[in-house]
Amino acid sequence: MKIKKVRKAVIPAAGLGTRVLPVSKAMPKEMLPIVDKPAIQYIVEEAVRSGIEDILIITNRGKAVIEDHFDHVIELEQRLAASGRQETLDQLNAITHLANIYFVRQKETKGLGHAVSCARSFVGDEPFAVLYGDDVIIGEDPACGQLCRAYEEYGRGVVGIKKVTLEQIVRYSSLKVENLRGNIYSVSDMVEKPSPDRVLSLYSILGRCVLPPSVFDILENTAPGAGGEIQLTDAMRVLTLNEGMTGVDFTGKRYDMGNKLGILQATCEVALNHPEVGSDFRDYLRELVNTL
Ligand code: UTP
Repeated sequence: MKIKKVRKAVIPAAGLGTRVLPVSKAMPKEMLPIVDKPAIQYIVEEAVRSGIEDILIITNRGKAVIEDHFDHVIELEQRLAASGRQETLDQLNAITHLANIYFVRQKETKGLGHAVSCARSFVGDEPFAVLYGDDVIIGEDPACGQLCRAYEEYGRGVVGIKKVTLEQIVRYSSLKVENLRGNIYSVSDMVEKPSPDRVLSLYSILGRCVLPPSVFDILENTAPGAGGEIQLTDAMRVLTLNEGMTGVDFTGKRYDMGNKLGILQATCEVALNHPEVGSDFRDYLRELVNTL
Protein backbone atom coordinates (compact mmCIF):
# COMPACT_ATOMS: atom_id res chain seq x y z
CA MET A 1 0.00 0.00 0.00
CA LYS A 2 1.34 3.44 -0.95
CA ILE A 3 2.02 5.63 2.10
CA LYS A 4 0.11 8.91 1.89
CA LYS A 5 1.91 12.22 2.33
CA VAL A 6 0.96 14.16 5.48
CA ARG A 7 -0.91 17.28 4.28
CA LYS A 8 -3.19 18.08 7.21
CA ALA A 9 -2.58 19.23 10.76
CA VAL A 10 -4.73 19.63 13.84
CA ILE A 11 -3.89 22.12 16.60
CA PRO A 12 -5.86 21.47 19.81
CA ALA A 13 -6.25 24.83 21.58
CA ALA A 14 -9.37 24.31 23.66
CA GLY A 15 -7.81 23.55 27.06
CA LEU A 16 -8.62 25.58 30.16
CA GLY A 17 -5.01 26.52 30.88
CA THR A 18 -5.43 26.21 34.63
CA ARG A 19 -1.66 26.15 35.22
CA VAL A 20 -1.24 29.70 33.92
CA LEU A 21 -4.21 31.36 35.59
CA PRO A 22 -5.11 34.16 35.99
CA VAL A 23 -3.70 35.27 32.60
CA SER A 24 -5.64 32.50 30.82
CA LYS A 25 -8.97 33.44 32.38
CA ALA A 26 -10.16 35.61 29.49
CA MET A 27 -7.15 35.23 27.16
CA PRO A 28 -6.36 31.86 25.53
CA LYS A 29 -2.90 30.69 26.62
CA GLU A 30 -2.26 29.87 22.94
CA MET A 31 -2.39 33.64 22.29
CA LEU A 32 0.26 34.54 24.87
CA PRO A 33 2.99 36.56 23.17
CA ILE A 34 6.55 35.44 22.64
CA VAL A 35 8.00 38.92 22.01
CA ASP A 36 5.74 40.05 19.14
CA LYS A 37 3.87 36.94 17.95
CA PRO A 38 1.33 34.78 19.79
CA ALA A 39 2.41 31.22 20.58
CA ILE A 40 -0.04 29.71 18.12
CA GLN A 41 1.43 31.67 15.22
CA TYR A 42 4.84 30.01 15.80
CA ILE A 43 3.03 26.66 15.71
CA VAL A 44 1.12 27.41 12.50
CA GLU A 45 4.38 28.62 10.89
CA GLU A 46 6.10 25.37 11.93
CA ALA A 47 3.30 23.33 10.32
CA VAL A 48 3.52 25.37 7.11
CA ARG A 49 7.33 24.98 6.96
CA SER A 50 6.73 21.21 7.35
CA GLY A 51 4.70 21.09 4.13
CA ILE A 52 1.24 21.10 5.77
CA GLU A 53 -1.45 22.69 3.58
CA ASP A 54 -4.65 22.49 5.67
CA ILE A 55 -4.82 23.25 9.40
CA LEU A 56 -7.72 22.73 11.79
CA ILE A 57 -7.57 24.62 15.08
CA ILE A 58 -9.76 23.20 17.85
CA THR A 59 -11.11 26.06 19.96
CA ASN A 60 -13.96 26.62 22.39
CA ARG A 61 -15.98 29.43 23.92
CA GLY A 62 -13.83 32.45 24.64
CA LYS A 63 -11.16 31.62 22.06
CA ALA A 64 -12.56 33.59 19.11
CA VAL A 65 -9.58 35.89 19.33
CA ILE A 66 -7.52 33.05 17.78
CA GLU A 67 -9.75 33.19 14.69
CA ASP A 68 -9.40 36.97 14.57
CA HIS A 69 -5.62 36.71 14.60
CA PHE A 70 -5.59 34.75 11.32
CA ASP A 71 -8.14 37.05 9.63
CA HIS A 72 -7.90 40.49 7.98
CA VAL A 73 -8.44 43.66 10.04
CA ILE A 74 -9.50 45.96 7.23
CA GLU A 75 -9.42 49.30 9.12
CA LEU A 76 -5.96 48.58 10.53
CA GLU A 77 -4.61 47.54 7.12
CA GLN A 78 -6.03 50.68 5.46
CA ARG A 79 -4.42 52.85 8.14
CA LEU A 80 -1.03 51.15 7.72
CA ALA A 81 -1.24 51.52 3.91
CA ALA A 82 -2.21 55.21 4.18
CA SER A 83 0.71 55.92 6.50
CA GLY A 84 3.19 54.06 4.28
CA ARG A 85 4.00 51.34 6.85
CA GLN A 86 4.40 48.73 4.13
CA GLU A 87 6.64 46.36 6.09
CA THR A 88 4.14 45.99 8.95
CA LEU A 89 1.29 45.65 6.47
CA ASP A 90 3.16 42.85 4.64
CA GLN A 91 3.68 41.08 7.97
CA LEU A 92 -0.04 41.21 8.76
CA ASN A 93 -1.02 40.05 5.26
CA ALA A 94 1.40 37.12 5.52
CA ILE A 95 -0.37 35.90 8.70
CA THR A 96 -3.71 35.89 6.89
CA HIS A 97 -2.33 33.84 3.99
CA LEU A 98 -0.16 31.35 5.91
CA ALA A 99 -2.32 28.30 5.13
CA ASN A 100 -5.93 27.17 4.77
CA ILE A 101 -6.97 27.47 8.40
CA TYR A 102 -10.25 25.99 9.65
CA PHE A 103 -11.82 26.10 13.10
CA VAL A 104 -14.10 23.80 15.07
CA ARG A 105 -15.25 24.05 18.66
CA GLN A 106 -14.77 21.35 21.26
CA LYS A 107 -18.05 21.85 23.10
CA GLU A 108 -16.94 20.30 26.38
CA THR A 109 -13.37 20.25 27.70
CA LYS A 110 -13.08 16.47 27.94
CA GLY A 111 -9.36 16.09 27.27
CA LEU A 112 -6.81 16.11 24.47
CA GLY A 113 -8.07 12.80 23.03
CA HIS A 114 -11.59 14.20 22.84
CA ALA A 115 -10.29 17.42 21.23
CA VAL A 116 -8.53 15.38 18.52
CA SER A 117 -11.69 13.34 17.90
CA CYS A 118 -13.41 16.63 16.92
CA ALA A 119 -11.14 16.65 13.84
CA ARG A 120 -12.56 13.44 12.35
CA SER A 121 -14.51 14.89 9.42
CA PHE A 122 -11.72 17.39 8.61
CA VAL A 123 -9.11 14.62 8.48
CA GLY A 124 -11.11 12.00 6.52
CA ASP A 125 -8.94 9.02 5.59
CA GLU A 126 -5.55 10.71 5.59
CA PRO A 127 -2.68 10.68 8.08
CA PHE A 128 -2.45 13.93 10.03
CA ALA A 129 -0.10 15.80 12.33
CA VAL A 130 -1.12 17.00 15.80
CA LEU A 131 0.69 20.05 17.16
CA TYR A 132 -0.27 20.80 20.79
CA GLY A 133 -1.38 24.42 20.95
CA ASP A 134 0.71 25.32 23.97
CA ASP A 135 3.97 23.67 22.87
CA VAL A 136 6.19 25.96 20.83
CA ILE A 137 9.22 24.28 19.26
CA ILE A 138 11.84 26.48 17.65
CA GLY A 139 14.50 25.03 15.40
CA GLU A 140 16.07 25.14 11.96
CA ASP A 141 14.40 21.88 10.85
CA PRO A 142 10.70 22.10 11.89
CA ALA A 143 9.84 19.35 14.42
CA CYS A 144 6.54 18.54 12.70
CA GLY A 145 8.40 17.98 9.41
CA GLN A 146 10.84 15.59 11.13
CA LEU A 147 7.85 13.50 12.30
CA CYS A 148 6.15 13.64 8.88
CA ARG A 149 9.32 12.28 7.24
CA ALA A 150 9.38 9.39 9.76
CA TYR A 151 5.70 8.66 9.00
CA GLU A 152 6.42 8.62 5.28
CA GLU A 153 9.41 6.29 5.85
CA TYR A 154 7.85 3.76 8.29
CA GLY A 155 4.14 4.07 7.43
CA ARG A 156 2.94 4.02 11.04
CA GLY A 157 2.08 6.61 13.68
CA VAL A 158 4.91 8.79 15.00
CA VAL A 159 5.37 10.54 18.33
CA GLY A 160 7.78 13.39 19.09
CA ILE A 161 9.82 12.28 22.10
CA LYS A 162 12.32 13.79 24.53
CA LYS A 163 14.03 12.54 27.67
CA VAL A 164 12.69 14.27 30.80
CA THR A 165 13.48 13.97 34.49
CA LEU A 166 11.86 11.43 36.84
CA GLU A 167 10.10 14.34 38.52
CA GLN A 168 8.56 15.44 35.21
CA ILE A 169 7.66 12.02 33.81
CA VAL A 170 4.92 11.41 36.39
CA ARG A 171 3.12 14.49 34.99
CA TYR A 172 3.70 13.50 31.32
CA SER A 173 3.73 10.10 29.60
CA SER A 174 6.37 7.38 29.64
CA LEU A 175 7.37 5.21 26.65
CA LYS A 176 8.94 1.81 26.15
CA VAL A 177 11.44 2.43 23.34
CA GLU A 178 14.19 0.71 21.38
CA ASN A 179 16.65 2.69 19.28
CA LEU A 180 16.44 2.03 15.53
CA ARG A 181 19.09 4.53 14.38
CA GLY A 182 20.27 8.01 15.44
CA ASN A 183 17.27 9.85 16.89
CA ILE A 184 14.67 7.33 15.62
CA TYR A 185 13.10 4.80 18.01
CA SER A 186 10.58 1.99 17.87
CA VAL A 187 7.86 2.48 20.50
CA SER A 188 6.22 -0.67 21.87
CA ASP A 189 4.24 0.63 24.87
CA MET A 190 3.28 3.84 26.65
CA VAL A 191 1.53 5.02 29.79
CA GLU A 192 0.02 8.43 30.64
CA LYS A 193 1.00 10.09 33.95
CA PRO A 194 2.64 6.93 35.36
CA SER A 195 3.09 6.39 39.06
CA PRO A 196 6.87 6.04 39.78
CA ASP A 197 6.65 2.20 39.79
CA ARG A 198 5.04 2.19 36.30
CA VAL A 199 7.64 4.35 34.51
CA LEU A 200 8.74 2.55 31.30
CA SER A 201 11.62 4.93 30.47
CA LEU A 202 12.38 8.63 30.81
CA TYR A 203 11.27 9.19 27.21
CA SER A 204 8.02 11.11 27.05
CA ILE A 205 5.75 12.31 24.24
CA LEU A 206 6.19 16.05 23.90
CA GLY A 207 4.05 18.32 21.78
CA ARG A 208 3.84 16.61 18.39
CA CYS A 209 2.58 13.42 16.78
CA VAL A 210 1.51 12.11 13.36
CA LEU A 211 -1.40 9.71 13.41
CA PRO A 212 -3.17 7.43 10.95
CA PRO A 213 -6.94 8.00 10.57
CA SER A 214 -7.57 4.64 12.31
CA VAL A 215 -7.01 6.50 15.60
CA PHE A 216 -10.55 7.95 15.38
CA ASP A 217 -12.25 4.54 15.83
CA ILE A 218 -9.93 3.89 18.76
CA LEU A 219 -10.75 7.30 20.31
CA GLU A 220 -14.46 6.53 20.09
CA ASN A 221 -13.87 3.55 22.36
CA THR A 222 -11.42 5.24 24.72
CA ALA A 223 -12.80 5.69 28.24
CA PRO A 224 -11.74 8.65 30.39
CA GLY A 225 -8.31 7.99 31.90
CA ALA A 226 -5.91 10.07 34.05
CA GLY A 227 -7.66 13.14 35.50
CA GLY A 228 -11.04 11.89 34.22
CA GLU A 229 -10.13 13.13 30.69
CA ILE A 230 -10.12 11.22 27.40
CA GLN A 231 -6.38 10.90 26.94
CA LEU A 232 -4.77 10.84 23.51
CA THR A 233 -1.97 8.71 24.99
CA ASP A 234 -4.49 5.97 25.88
CA ALA A 235 -5.66 5.84 22.24
CA MET A 236 -2.07 5.92 20.95
CA ARG A 237 -1.27 3.01 23.28
CA VAL A 238 -3.88 0.89 21.49
CA LEU A 239 -2.38 1.97 18.16
CA THR A 240 1.07 1.05 19.49
CA LEU A 241 -0.02 -2.41 20.65
CA ASN A 242 -1.83 -3.01 17.31
CA GLU A 243 0.82 -1.86 14.87
CA GLY A 244 3.68 -0.16 16.76
CA MET A 245 4.67 3.48 16.54
CA THR A 246 7.86 5.34 15.73
CA GLY A 247 9.46 7.83 18.13
CA VAL A 248 11.50 10.79 16.88
CA ASP A 249 13.75 12.54 19.39
CA PHE A 250 13.29 15.76 17.45
CA THR A 251 15.81 18.58 17.21
CA GLY A 252 14.70 22.06 18.27
CA LYS A 253 14.04 23.77 21.57
CA ARG A 254 10.62 23.19 23.13
CA TYR A 255 8.90 25.80 25.26
CA ASP A 256 5.89 24.82 27.37
CA MET A 257 3.55 27.81 27.09
CA GLY A 258 1.13 26.09 29.46
CA ASN A 259 3.58 26.67 32.30
CA LYS A 260 4.71 29.99 33.81
CA LEU A 261 8.44 29.21 33.69
CA GLY A 262 8.14 27.98 30.08
CA ILE A 263 6.56 31.29 29.05
CA LEU A 264 9.42 33.25 30.62
CA GLN A 265 12.08 31.03 29.01
CA ALA A 266 10.48 31.39 25.57
CA THR A 267 10.24 35.17 25.89
CA CYS A 268 13.80 35.54 27.07
CA GLU A 269 15.45 33.27 24.51
CA VAL A 270 13.44 34.46 21.50
CA ALA A 271 14.04 38.09 22.53
CA LEU A 272 17.81 37.53 22.58
CA ASN A 273 17.71 36.44 18.92
CA HIS A 274 15.16 38.98 17.75
CA PRO A 275 16.44 41.18 14.89
CA GLU A 276 14.75 44.33 16.20
CA VAL A 277 15.19 44.15 19.99
CA GLY A 278 17.82 41.39 20.43
CA SER A 279 20.89 43.55 20.96
CA ASP A 280 19.20 46.08 23.30
CA PHE A 281 17.65 43.22 25.27
CA ARG A 282 21.07 41.57 25.63
CA ASP A 283 22.53 44.81 27.03
CA TYR A 284 19.59 45.12 29.41
CA LEU A 285 20.00 41.51 30.60
CA ARG A 286 23.74 42.00 31.18
CA GLU A 287 23.00 44.97 33.42
CA LEU A 288 20.23 43.14 35.21
CA VAL A 289 22.37 40.06 35.86
CA ASN A 290 24.86 42.24 37.76
CA THR A 291 22.14 43.16 40.22
CA LEU A 292 21.13 39.54 40.99
P1 UTP B 1 -2.91 20.54 28.34
O1 UTP B 1 -3.34 19.47 29.26
O2 UTP B 1 -1.51 21.04 28.44
O3 UTP B 1 -3.87 21.83 28.45
O4 UTP B 1 -3.26 20.09 26.87
P2 UTP B 1 -4.83 22.33 29.57
O5 UTP B 1 -5.88 21.31 29.90
O6 UTP B 1 -5.29 23.66 29.07
O7 UTP B 1 -3.81 22.54 30.79
P3 UTP B 1 -4.00 22.83 32.32
O8 UTP B 1 -3.48 21.60 32.99
O9 UTP B 1 -5.43 23.15 32.62
O10 UTP B 1 -3.10 24.02 32.59
C1 UTP B 1 -2.40 20.21 25.74
C2 UTP B 1 -3.10 20.92 24.58
O11 UTP B 1 -4.37 20.33 24.34
C3 UTP B 1 -5.40 21.29 24.36
C4 UTP B 1 -4.84 22.47 25.16
O12 UTP B 1 -5.41 23.70 24.70
C5 UTP B 1 -3.36 22.40 24.89
O13 UTP B 1 -3.00 23.17 23.78
N1 UTP B 1 -6.63 20.70 24.95
C6 UTP B 1 -6.58 20.09 26.18
C7 UTP B 1 -7.83 20.76 24.26
O14 UTP B 1 -7.87 21.31 23.13
N2 UTP B 1 -8.96 20.24 24.82
C8 UTP B 1 -8.95 19.64 26.03
O15 UTP B 1 -10.03 19.17 26.49
C9 UTP B 1 -7.73 19.56 26.73
